[in-house]
Amino acid sequence: MELSQVQTFLAQDWSCFQDLFKKALSSDEPLLKETNAYLASNEGKMLRPMLSLLVSRACGNVTDESIRVAAASELLHNATLLHDDVLDQSASRRGVPTVMSLLGSKASVLAGDFWLVKAVETILDCRRHSKELLRMFSGTVSDLVEGEMLQMEKAGKADTSLMDYHDIIFLKTASLFKTICSAAALTAGASSRIENALMNFGIQLGMAFQIKDDILDYDGDALGKPVGTDLREGKITLPLLKALEKQEPRKQASIRRMVYEIPQKDGNVAKVADFVKENDGTALAAVTLQEYVQRAKECLGPLPESQAKDWLMKLADYCEYRTI
Ligand code: FPP
Ligand code: MG
Repeated sequence: MELSQVQTFLAQDWSCFQDLFKKALSSDEPLLKETNAYLASNEGKMLRPMLSLLVSRACGNVTDESIRVAAASELLHNATLLHDDVLDQSASRRGVPTVMSLLGSKASVLAGDFWLVKAVETILDCRRHSKELLRMFSGTVSDLVEGEMLQMEKAGKADTSLMDYHDIIFLKTASLFKTICSAAALTAGASSRIENALMNFGIQLGMAFQIKDDILDYDGDALGKPVGTDLREGKITLPLLKALEKQEPRKQASIRRMVYEIPQKDGNVAKVADFVKENDGTALAAVTLQEYVQRAKECLGPLPESQAKDWLMKLADYCEYRTI
């Protein structure tokens, strides 16, 4: 599946989303204008608004509020990346230099603040459900911050457990997928049974999406950022956790020590990556990924058959097979 096919399927709804998204970003301040134009020309996968609109369609009704939820989800997502690139001191994203590396941390934080506020305003202008939607998105913003804090705390100690890892990826990634799916269902007037099913779909899909991201960080240069980035940032993710699982405690401790010392010894990145390769870390993580994708698809069971539902199924498969 190509993501552009989803846009074609969404047709008019997709252009309404794009119009609202572009409108939300207008500013007369020259540097902000330039920054927003730069970000808009390197737009990324746009997976979140696609997910949002497909969910509303699968519930049978794309409303003005559904378009707003789609726009808010992409605005919020980009806001978090602008802040994340400062936290991670990332030089490149989506194959191009980050705003942080071009204009500095201050500009990246301020641009992120702007996109965050535009997401809030987009939801505030919803006519029927603004309060409930704002509560959902606020909950996710808290989760995102908590997830980043937990990840930062763990990165400094190299002691991330499997449970910590699952907590981190729920908070930093799956929470937004969950909110997008619930919010999109609410705006479409879905029953609470269907909304609940879609909320669970969002959680499983978000977990899968992040696990695939973490696999790709070991597997190739396809993401537009260098391989081994997570290790350099002190992040212990599923491929390494799976490779560690089979080892004796003493070996586990020595590998964790290597990760801990990466800031002083860059050569440790290649050594840990080799350890993951030799112990089938990415293949084992791919089994967990497959389980999440399978569960995500099962969550769609209660939805009536429709083309939009079929696309949601394909989107779940995409999270397993994507290469970027
Ligand atoms: C990317 O993950 C980052 C996130 C999914 C969340 C970032 C959230 C924050 C910085 C806190 C909240 C921010 C706002 C604006 C409220 P990653 O670093 O694993 O992936 P990457 O390799 O794409 O950077
Ligand atoms: Mg990052």
